Order: sequence, then structure tokens, then C-alpha cells
Amino acid sequence: MTQEEVFKNLIAHAKEYGFIFPSSEIYDGLSAVYDYGQMGVEMKNNIKKYWWESMVRLNENIVGIDSAIFMHPRIWEASGHVGAFNDPLIDNKDSKKRYRADVLIEDYLAKLEEKMNKEVEKGRKKFGDSFNEEQFRATNPNVLRSKTKWDEVHQRMTEALNQNDLVALRQLIIDCEIACPISGTKNWTEVRQFNLMFSTQLGNISDESGIIYLRPETAQGIFVNFLNVQKTGRMKIPFGIAQIGKAFRNEIVARQFIFRMREFEQMEMQFFVRPGDEMQWFKKWKATRLAWHKALGLGDEKYRFHDHEKLAHYANAATDIEFEFPFGFKELEGIHSRTDFDLSQHQKFSGRKMQYFDPETNESYVPYVIETSIGLDRTFLAILSSAYTEEKLENGEERVVLRIPPAIAPVKMAVLPLIKKDGLPEKAHEIMNTLKIDFNCQYDEKDSIGKRYRRQDAIGTPFCITVDHDTLNDNCVTIRYRDTMTQERVPIDALRTIMDEKVNLRSLLGKL
Ligand code: GAP
Repeated sequence: MTQEEVFKNLIAHAKEYGFIFPSSEIYDGLSAVYDYGQMGVEMKNNIKKYWWESMVRLNENIVGIDSAIFMHPRIWEASGHVGAFNDPLIDNKDSKKRYRADVLIEDYLAKLEEKMNKEVEKGRKKFGDSFNEEQFRATNPNVLRSKTKWDEVHQRMTEALNQNDLVALRQLIIDCEIACPISGTKNWTEVRQFNLMFSTQLGNISDESGIIYLRPETAQGIFVNFLNVQKTGRMKIPFGIAQIGKAFRNEIVARQFIFRMREFEQMEMQFFVRPGDEMQWFKKWKATRLAWHKALGLGDEKYRFHDHEKLAHYANAATDIEFEFPFGFKELEGIHSRTDFDLSQHQKFSGRKMQYFDPETNESYVPYVIETSIGLDRTFLAILSSAYTEEKLENGEERVVLRIPPAIAPVKMAVLPLIKKDGLPEKAHEIMNTLKIDFNCQYDEKDSIGKRYRRQDAIGTPFCITVDHDTLNDNCVTIRYRDTMTQERVPIDALRTIMDEKVNLRSLLGKL
């Protein structure tokens, strides 16, 4: 099965088992908007908790806030979003479909890459064990031709984007003979900039001055509260402010499931430091954030840094933590050294001093900022896509299992009476009633035990606790492990401690 087919199965599975539903489905959906179902919301809350506690609880100098989505419109002028939060767009005149010009070109580049990879696979089959991929890529004429084209197109695209040259971007689409995937024609409009912010109107003002934006990032809510938090919390630099919340972007390219959405959630932390210290903190936060990801146990090889060569005008260093999604390595988190840009801009636009008096140096200054910004939905997708496994068992049966880290799994354990009589359901309920105080558990007595195990595998429940006839005499139950399917007999009295050790967030936080 191809990666694409597995990804399609994953999306269907996420819907079938209550993780993610398309928004407004009974009205045929709303593109790039999704709802989290009964399983999804539990898992999402667990991810949030892991992030929040790793920031706010483990770091004595980081506190959290929850700022409003609506903010004064001048904030978005100060931050640069009104003027420059744009994507270059192009329309196909026949299909009337709108595309991001750079994404059309990136898709073209991806096709060239696919062509090269296919050629390499052919070579691998032909030469068997003696195949040397590096040498093949450096000498095969077909691969070399595609590679030369790839380099040329990539360079032209990068230059056009860097110079904001929309004419050059369009010319590249024409030169590459890129056609609209819907109409198949190359009948393109000019490329224009399109602002990604959603706007609406304040109730009591009818003209332009009443325009208000849905925040495109949570970070600005932190910057404008810098003084409030610093003063009321008596925070001393270096210190951080963390926030989890919704952000909205009118994305034109809406695809890859919950990877790129119009309404999504961010987990952001702004760390305020003394000017001049920012590089040391940038390095530290890069390492800290990578360790946070790796502690999830999805596989260290699935992460890589992508350092930005071209920096935004306000940054003096930036990197992405990329994750290997089913559609390739893509950005999961951004870590940026934002200098004093945001606070200085708010100082300028609001007329308020955004300064800190440093008792150690006896100086006042606008602090520098290191930002860590991670998409909650992308983290969800990273975990779900690595967890999703279609497995053939030794007895010939098949199962779909979600190998979600136990601390993140929506349901921690299922309590299952072996049969629906002989006092077993009563005993199982008794166990369930004590466990549910500490853990999210499910009780299930319907169908054969095998079917019930499969249902729990499909939602990623790491442990099934089976109550059988012996339980009534020896007060022991069987724990069945999701990943290995092995079983272990344990006393009921020890269940809480055993389970807590395995599913508590401590199992992740302890690694940091
Ligand atoms: N405050 C900095 C900031 O917003 P960003 O790189 O634009 O930086 C940060 O976004 C993170 O938010 C990304 O790494 C990604 O995980 C997530 N993100 C951005 N746009 C998204 C979208 N349309 N859908 C889902 N997640 C998104």
C-alpha cells in the first residue's frame, strides 16, 4: 500500500472512531475546518496538558495566560500583519480556482523529486545488492536532467519570493507549463498578494474603523500583556509567558487534513531575555523543544531542524522543527529569535513604554524575545499518523492499532468482564468505579472479548483489564497490553499504582 493510501485510511479511521470529523458535514462540510470528536478532544487535551506542564510547571520562570481572540486592530498594524501577512495568489481563468503561486511551483518540484526517486528505485531493482544510490544519483542521465531542472526552478522561485517579485513568480509558472489541476488549462491571471487575516465588524460601528480581526497568531496577546504579567507576577528577566489558543488564517491551500487549517490552535511561548543574550537562549530552546518532541517516543529519526536562511526582517535567527508526516518532512514548530521587534513596535504604536528595569545592571531596556510556536493540530497529526498501524497477526487476522503514547491516549484503560453474567459485570463495574476517579476508562461488555480488544486497539487504549471467574476468588485481573498483546495477572489492589506509573504524564515529563 502506498503512503497516500495509508493516509487516506487514517483519515477514514479518525472519523470512524470519533477522533476528527469534517466540520458541518451534514451540509457537505466546510473546507479546511475540522471538529474533534469524543476521542479527539481527549487526546488533544492530553497534548495541551503535556505542553502546558512542561512549560509552566517545570519552569519556575514561565507563567501562562489566556488572552482574548479579538484585540485592538492597531495591534495588527504594529505587528506587521495588516501590511505583510500575505500569500501570493493566482487564479485559473477557466476553472475560477484560486491557488498559492508558490505552492503550484512546489508541487511541480515535488513531481520532479518523485520522478528522480522512481528512477532510483528502478536502479535499485536492476543492480540489486551492488546498488550504490549516491553514485547512481550523481551519474544517471535521467536523474541528472531532473536535478538540474529542480535546482533551476527552486532557485528562481526562492529569488522571486525573496524579492517579492510577483511577475517573476507568474513567469516561472508559465515557463514550467504548470496547468490547473481542475481545468487542465494554463490560462492564468496575474499573481497578487492576498492578506490571510479574517476580519469582521464591531457591532456598534458600521464603517471601516469598526474592522476587527480574528487573531492569526496567539503571540501578540502575549506581547501586549508583557507589562501586566511582568509587574503583577514580579517576573525577573529571563522569563517566559505561555499561551494555548485558537488562531485563524484564511489559507488558500487547504489540504493534508488537519495539517493546514483555517481555524487551528497554537501553543506559543515568548521568552524575554536581556539584549545580547538571545543567541544563547535560542540555542537552549532549540534543544529543549526537540527533547520535548523526542520524549513522545515517535522515533528520533522523524525530526529534523530546518534553519532559515532568509530571515524575516525582525528575526536574527530562526529554525523549524520538521516532522516526517505521511506526506514528507514538514514544519511542526517554529523557534524564532524575534529581537525587540514586537515590543518596540507596540511601544511605538501604543505610546506606552514596553521596557524592563534590570536590577542587576541598573538599566532599562526593551527585552529581546525567543519564541517557540507549535501547532497543536499538527502535533495531533504527528502522533496520530505515527501511531496508526495496519497489522497482520500471526493467526492470519488483521488489526488496526493506534500505538499512541499511553500518557496521550484518549482512553487509558478498558474494563471488560469476560462474559455478561455470573457476577462478572458487577465486579467489573466495581473496579471501573474506583479507576475512573483517576483515569479516563471505558466499560464494555458487548461482543466477544476478541472483538472488544480490537475496538480498544482501534482507539489506542493501551491497557485492557479483563475480569474473569477467577477474579471473584483471587481478586486478580488480567492486564492485556495493546502493543504486544501479552497478558499479565495482577491483584486488583495494585491496579491503580501500576496504571498510574504507565499512563501518568510523569512518564513524559520525567524525561525532560
Ligand atoms: N507566532 C509565530 C507563528 O505564528 P508560524 O510559523 O506562522 O509562526 C507556528 O506558526 C505554528 O503554527 C506552525 O509551526 C504550525 O505548527 C502551526 N500552524 C501555522 N499555520 C497553521 C495552519 N494553517 N493550520 C494548522 N497549523 C498551523
